Amino acid sequence: MAIACSARDIASNSIERMTANPLSTATGIPSQGYARRRKQLMRMAGDDAILVLPAAVERIRSRDTHYPYRQDSDLWYLTGFPEPEAVLVLVPGRKHGESLLFCRERDPDREAWNGPRSGPEGAVEQFGMDDAYPITDLDEILPGLLEGRSRVYYHFGRDAEFDLKLIGWLNRVRAMVRQGAQPPHEFLELGHLLDELRLFKSKGELKLMQRAADISVEAHRAAMRAARPGVREYELQAEIERVFRMHDAEPAYGSIVGAGGNACVLHYRANSAQAKDGDLVLIDAGAEYRGYASDITRTFPINGRFNKEQRALHNLVGAAQQAALAQAKPGVAYEAGHTAAVETLTEGLLQLGLLKGSLEKNLGEGHYKRFYRHKTGHWIGLDVHDVGEYRLDGESRLLEPGMVFTIEPGLYIAPDDKSVAAKWRGIGIRTEDDVLVTKDGYRVLTDKLARSADEIEALMAER
Ligand code: GLY
Ligand code: MN
Ligand code: MN
Repeated sequence: MAIACSARDIASNSIERMTANPLSTATGIPSQGYARRRKQLMRMAGDDAILVLPAAVERIRSRDTHYPYRQDSDLWYLTGFPEPEAVLVLVPGRKHGESLLFCRERDPDREAWNGPRSGPEGAVEQFGMDDAYPITDLDEILPGLLEGRSRVYYHFGRDAEFDLKLIGWLNRVRAMVRQGAQPPHEFLELGHLLDELRLFKSKGELKLMQRAADISVEAHRAAMRAARPGVREYELQAEIERVFRMHDAEPAYGSIVGAGGNACVLHYRANSAQAKDGDLVLIDAGAEYRGYASDITRTFPINGRFNKEQRALHNLVGAAQQAALAQAKPGVAYEAGHTAAVETLTEGLLQLGLLKGSLEKNLGEGHYKRFYRHKTGHWIGLDVHDVGEYRLDGESRLLEPGMVFTIEPGLYIAPDDKSVAAKWRGIGIRTEDDVLVTKDGYRVLTDKLARSADEIEALMAER
């Protein structure tokens, strides 16, 4: 009976730790680094807790064809383990091992089709788990691990099928109460602890984020160099993603390449139109490297020269980005960057005659939203829109060293906006960079890429 399965029984039928000094993982972060993260999380959870983290589920695209697999960011953060059909269980203070991984067993036939698996042996040897078991044993073993723990940390609602399984295991423990079993009685949101850890990037993580940023910078440069009137948006996308792949990276999100009026569609995905002479092209694309995202937007003239209106709006977006950047330092509210960007944009739109009336009235009534309907940034890390609270106790949280976020103001004047002079219509511009908060201020991870209109024109003149 599973419930009777004691900690000692479990230890005896599993793979014991075989090496005291496990190898580095594919991320370049040694397995001890992951062990430290798990320890820290367990310390936060307390000794009477248990934490359960399933791998991302493989998703079917069409019959027996799958979407490319991407590991769950939380599991990745805590293990660097890349395979599906795995579950990490953390059991703080457990004598026979605290970090347990359930994963697929080695299988020469399946591996001949789909590539190598680590197996429970590899999970211990290469990934530094205290112990590992075949995933097929999860059903039998997990109730025994839940028993006697008072709190369960889990991400409820992410995977409905797994939610039901967890409830089933809990019910198995509850059914044994008269035999003396003690079922957990508190269920807590795992993100409450883990998101805060992930929000603050370590030196090792920042190295990977800088690499992702550098690859993206190179890719954007390649696209600007490939620009010419008549090119298709997908040709520029291909150029960007060629550079990503060249460096063993992939898109962190669907690349957006919008020429002319398409730049005004915030989540434009078709990437199929032709860029005409005189168009601006907006490219929002970032590489994901070893799980870490970057997120860059640049807007450039397809023929290499901004016209007067394009340049005026591009300068204004640049000024808004600088105003937001000036707020990037420890102790300043996260929200201050957005407020500064909105003020700069509103002032500039008034000067250009695109808004009318007083600055106070325009700010108070939010008239800039006609041309700028999104926020000025987001946390970035393992997820492009990374985890972490933006507000604490109802107030914007203060910036601290180690946080990384984007600054991405923009202006979008729809091609059919009859309320403005024709010369402004169909111009969409965003400038986006990735910013680390340091002890004294900030470091722009994506700083090496041409940003101002002059810098972009100079780069494009090299074509
Ligand atoms: N590329 C998504 C974003 O900028 O937030
Ligand atoms: Mn972004
Ligand atoms: Mn972006």
